[in-house]
Amino acid sequence: MNLQRDRSAWLHGPPLVCQSQPVHPTHCRRLVLLGPPGVGKGTQAAFLSATYGACHLSTGDIFRAARQCASTDQSPALHEAIAHMNEGRLVTDETVLEIIRERTTCLSCRGGFILDGFPRTALQAEALEAHLGYEGNALDAVINYELPVDELIVRISGRRLCPDCKAVYHVTSRPPREEGRCNTCAAALITREDDQPDAVAVRQRAYLESSAPLLDLYAERGMLVHIDAHGLPEDVFARTITALAVWH
Ligand code: AP5
Repeated sequence: MNLQRDRSAWLHGPPLVCQSQPVHPTHCRRLVLLGPPGVGKGTQAAFLSATYGACHLSTGDIFRAARQCASTDQSPALHEAIAHMNEGRLVTDETVLEIIRERTTCLSCRGGFILDGFPRTALQAEALEAHLGYEGNALDAVINYELPVDELIVRISGRRLCPDCKAVYHVTSRPPREEGRCNTCAAALITREDDQPDAVAVRQRAYLESSAPLLDLYAERGMLVHIDAHGLPEDVFARTITALAVWH
């Protein structure tokens, strides 16, 4: 089954609207993916999205899409957000929540969602919970991917990204069919600016500081599913699906 969705409304915000017809699964999935930079959240989100038909909603992808726009088209808040991201720092809650407010239709979609990179702080988690509660919805689960730091560095240092469709590759573990070219749109693959060693170190620290309260909050609510992220992406995905199948 491949139910890839149109993500332009999420990536670019209003006035763009979603062009894909929401699928109406008997049980739509509303999942949050957590885990340190480079653990494979984006990779797993793409698998989960293709399987469940729920949109892959990544806040990092929003900022990277905005970076490709002319700087005159970037609001001051977005301009500042991109500067934070390039250095590996977290974007402020205020800016993130403003960006999310513009995209609440994606969070209300009857097809569900796979959130990747949001929420990242306890304040963002509370805002998400308030929005879902207002609509009578709730998260199904929060998946926390775990991997030792030395393996994260290997994954990040070999990452390549398609600037057009945002597909993620790795030079050894997930190489494109043609070296340096996206399998889907043939665009030349790039290295992320925040994958430079200095920015990676800042990102790891930012993750450690922000994740503890977030993990505590979701653990208290009984929503946290821990997944070992060792092994091939397909193995991690199989572990995720198995864990979700027996979850609640
Ligand atoms: P974001 O884009 O969310 O980045 P991140 O959380 O740092 O996570 P990454 O995208 O680096 O890694 P990933 O876990 O998705 O791994 P991937 O699948 O690519 O955020 C970027 C920045 O935006 C933040 O630093 C911050 O500045 C800002 N931001 C975003 N949201 C924010 C928010 N809510 N609040 C504040 N600031 C925010 O995999 C990594 C590599 O490994 C790839 O090459 C992949 O091919 C490979 N790989 C994946 N799985 C495997 C496997 N099983 N085996 C071998 N290789 C694998």
